[in-house]
Amino acid sequence: MHLSTTFISTLAFVALASAQTITGPFDCVPAGNYNLCANLWGRQAGVGGQNSTLVSTNGNNVAWNTVWNWANGPNSVKSYSNVESTVAKGIQLANIKSAPTTWTWEYASQSSGIRADVAYDIWTGVPQSGTAASSASSYEIMIWLSGLGGIQPVGSPVATNITVAGHRFDLWRGPNTNWQVLSFKTAEGDINDFNVDLNEFFQYIVQNEGVASTQFVQSIQAGTEPFTGSANLVTSNYSVSIN
Ligand SMILES: *[C@@H]1O[C@H](CO)[C@@H](O)[C@H](O)[C@H]1NC(C)=O
Ligand SMILES: *[C@@H]1O[C@H](CO)[C@@H](O)[C@H](O)[C@H]1NC(C)=O
Ligand SMILES: *[C@@H]1O[C@H](CO)[C@@H](O)[C@H](O)[C@H]1NC(C)=O
Repeated sequence: MHLSTTFISTLAFVALASAQTITGPFDCVPAGNYNLCANLWGRQAGVGGQNSTLVSTNGNNVAWNTVWNWANGPNSVKSYSNVESTVAKGIQLANIKSAPTTWTWEYASQSSGIRADVAYDIWTGVPQSGTAASSASSYEIMIWLSGLGGIQPVGSPVATNITVAGHRFDLWRGPNTNWQVLSFKTAEGDINDFNVDLNEFFQYIVQNEGVASTQFVQSIQAGTEPFTGSANLVTSNYSVSIN
């Protein structure tokens, strides 16, 4: 009896340590050099739910998945579950030598006709530090590796079929709250294995979109914005750093 109880609690501990699921709408869990957060900010626009599970961390790399199921409000984002780097930030665009990132992901399952993106959300501003989507934000730079179901970024296209970091994108631009949104939306379908230098995107917006190179990178997030449908989005390998 005593032995079997010990055995069971050891198993439970191992299971928790290797895969932690967050279920609360604004829960976060530390994930190595990142925080994994649920961020169900738009959940009241529909009906459904969503959970994220931290699978593993390894050095600067992290693996997680997000299971979601949403109905109603087809044009409203329900959430942005994401990992946010705790270290890749606080540097002015002009001082970045490189910002390597890897993102390997897939839909392990999905209902037909899902409306969702898989995207970076990168925040810059005048102060060296600032919370994402706050009064300190000047620009929100999105990189959509997927946009399914006819959804569109904020604003309207300002450039189409441009090549940045070896991939083709349409660039959208528009205002949101007190910042400008610049969204690089994939023009080549889903990019499931993304391995680039984010500095090429930063250089592009400095050279072509009038973004001041004195802007500080305040936050780099990576995650998914579901609108409707259901899916299990699995990221097997993600990392970002700034040099
Ligand atoms: C999320 O987890 C909760 C609690 O385990 C569960 O009731 C719910 O069905 C899950 N939601 C999804 C979309 O998997
Ligand atoms: C987009 O650009 C690529 C590479 O420059 C080119 O091969 C392709 O035809 C272009 N597609 C469209 C729709 O213009
Ligand atoms: C994960 O990405 C890193 C680069 O950040 C790479 O060195 C490593 O081989 C990748 N791991 C796997 C399992 O693909």
